[in-house]
Amino acid sequence: MGSGRGGGALFISRYLQPRSMTGLDFSPEAVNLCNRHRLAPGLAFVCGDAQSMPFPASSFDAVVNIESSHCYESMDTFLAEVCRVLRPGGRLFFADLRSRDGVYTLREQFTACGLTVEKETDITANVLTALRLDNARKLQLIDAWIPRVFHRPLCVFAGIAGTRNYAGLESGKIRYLSAQLAKSNPAHT
Ligand SMILES: C[S@@+](CC[C@H](N)C(=O)[O-])C[C@H]1O[C@@H](n2cnc3c(N)ncnc32)[C@H](O)[C@@H]1O
Repeated sequence: MGSGRGGGALFISRYLQPRSMTGLDFSPEAVNLCNRHRLAPGLAFVCGDAQSMPFPASSFDAVVNIESSHCYESMDTFLAEVCRVLRPGGRLFFADLRSRDGVYTLREQFTACGLTVEKETDITANVLTALRLDNARKLQLIDAWIPRVFHRPLCVFAGIAGTRNYAGLESGKIRYLSAQLAKSNPAHT
């Protein structure tokens, strides 16, 4: 959910080889790009809102949601949709950033949504290490491809060292969490 430019979905398709996988994103441009270039057996991309998913109830074994949920108007509505589309025993695999206070709200939302939190990990340090390792490459790409007038906002978005989001992660004002949640399976209780 929130598959963006499709790199994550393609990675999962290639290396975990699910029978089918559907990427959903709000942006028609991103969905078109993915359907042209992110090609793997059983992988397709559709346009839609993660808060009102165009899928039948109990139709997925797993929902993967990476760095997208902070964009949603209502996290509660998104989580209710995840509960609806997951089969009993299905899992939500989640990762995203939040403000310090937002982490507490997120935990309350997880607790209230009816799914069981099986794992939760603060991966802020891992994300910072990854950003540091990729910093020079991203700066080169921005320099080569992006008009100078857009450099500053793009550097913030890309988490370039010294910019606002990077500094927020470094100071602890912004935290990056990953979590695994399960929909209970009445057959196993
Ligand atoms: C930062 S990108 C992350 C993309 C991808 N998950 C990844 O890890 O590379 C966030 C994506 O969420 C999508 N998005 C934001 N709000 C959405 C919504 N309500 N429904 C579906 N997608 C949404 C955006 O269009 C964008 O492609």
